[in-house]
Amino acid sequence: MPDTAQCRVCSGTVEEFFDFGRQPLADAFVTPGQTDGEFFYRMAVGMCQSCTMVQLMEEVPRQRMFHEDYPYLSSGSSVMRTHFEKTAEHFLNTELTGPDPFIVEFGSNDGIMLKSLADRGIRHLGVEPSGGVADMAAAKGIRVRKSFFEESSALEIAASDGQADVIYAANTFSHIAYVDSIFRGVKALLAPNGVFVFEDPYFLEIVERTSFDQIYDEHFYFFAVRSVQAMAAQYGLELVHVERLPVHGGEVRYTVAHAGARPVSPAVGELLTEEDARRLTDPGTLQGFGASVNKTREQLMGLLQDIRAQGGRVVGYGATAKSATVINYCGITPELVDFICDTTPAKQGKLTPGSHIPVRDAKAFAEPYPDYALLFAWNHADEIMAKERDFRMAGGRWILYTPEVKVV
Ligand code: SAH
Ligand code: TYD
Ligand code: ZN
Repeated sequence: MPDTAQCRVCSGTVEEFFDFGRQPLADAFVTPGQTDGEFFYRMAVGMCQSCTMVQLMEEVPRQRMFHEDYPYLSSGSSVMRTHFEKTAEHFLNTELTGPDPFIVEFGSNDGIMLKSLADRGIRHLGVEPSGGVADMAAAKGIRVRKSFFEESSALEIAASDGQADVIYAANTFSHIAYVDSIFRGVKALLAPNGVFVFEDPYFLEIVERTSFDQIYDEHFYFFAVRSVQAMAAQYGLELVHVERLPVHGGEVRYTVAHAGARPVSPAVGELLTEEDARRLTDPGTLQGFGASVNKTREQLMGLLQDIRAQGGRVVGYGATAKSATVINYCGITPELVDFICDTTPAKQGKLTPGSHIPVRDAKAFAEPYPDYALLFAWNHADEIMAKERDFRMAGGRWILYTPEVKVV
């Protein structure tokens, strides 16, 4: 019998389909010499047998993940900066056209999206519990409330600023297990014809690309159109539009409105049909995913061990949160990957969680180039490979592990 849990959305039964075992927190980089007392939890994923929402079997307390020293910076990728500038532009041209529009973004991080709107004088508020990144946004002239978005903070915002025309969240809503509180907050804060727009990794892409490294403590839910539609309906809201996005390995942007307030676009039905055609929620699909994860693990470890046996040197590229799952589930050690280079100041000089691989400045990559670079930031492959053209010119090779293990 598979392990079960209670669905955080509909209280149905969640049946586990893959167990990654004991895992550390993906963004909990460790100071050398202070490796005692790391926090571990059992990381396993399941699907709700009633509403089909895919979710973690165990929740990590939010204050362990999102705090003053949360290291992730949204602005580390130029492709993502452009993506969010375009997002801001889109809202300006569509939803923020009234006399005094108001937009609330939760998980605003370093202000990557709100900056363009703040510069245009649009009334806005970022809601961000991680103090360090919230301060960075504030320093750019963005109005930020340092708190978790939930029912109580949403009610306070509605009382002080009025209702919002847009509530937006990128790569954040799927991080939040307590959806009941979020939806009660959204119901109260959203203007009668407003939209709640969120974009997160698409479960269909995770299955099709075997991008199992999208699974880690901060990613509590793995959304798909069917599960999001059911979830919105449960709270008096309606999924009115969906759009696939090419960023972060394939996402969907969901637009939700008060039930009956807006027409439902054909895109919703089209993507539902695609999910059904691909049998996304079939037990066989989920089992197949698990088998592919283990195949990736065997092939990647085999490759790294072969390279080491032949005296080759491998360096990791991008100390992503995702890498924690690959490294710890596969069992990658500092003997196999010398270090990981990363542009994020707060990660440099630290060790990766659980596995204790050193993280170094991006400059260390070329001093001298390794034989192979294991691309943990594979979602930024185009940007990074263009930037690091000289590495391949010098004979270096990239190792990729999604959708399959290959050397390019
Ligand atoms: N929107 C950015 C940041 C994503 S990282 C981007 O797409 O790049 C997720 C962010 O959500 C973190 O900065 C984290 O501190 C924040 N977060 C987590 N729980 C939250 C909550 N309940 N309310 C608001 N922000 C939250
Ligand atoms: P990302 O894949 O966006 O997210 P997550 O941590 O949620 O998996 O993280 C990208 C990481 O890669 C981040 O730590 C910054 C780093 N990075 C570089 O070092 N160089 C680059 O050119 C880019 C684009 C990212
Ligand atoms: Zn459910």
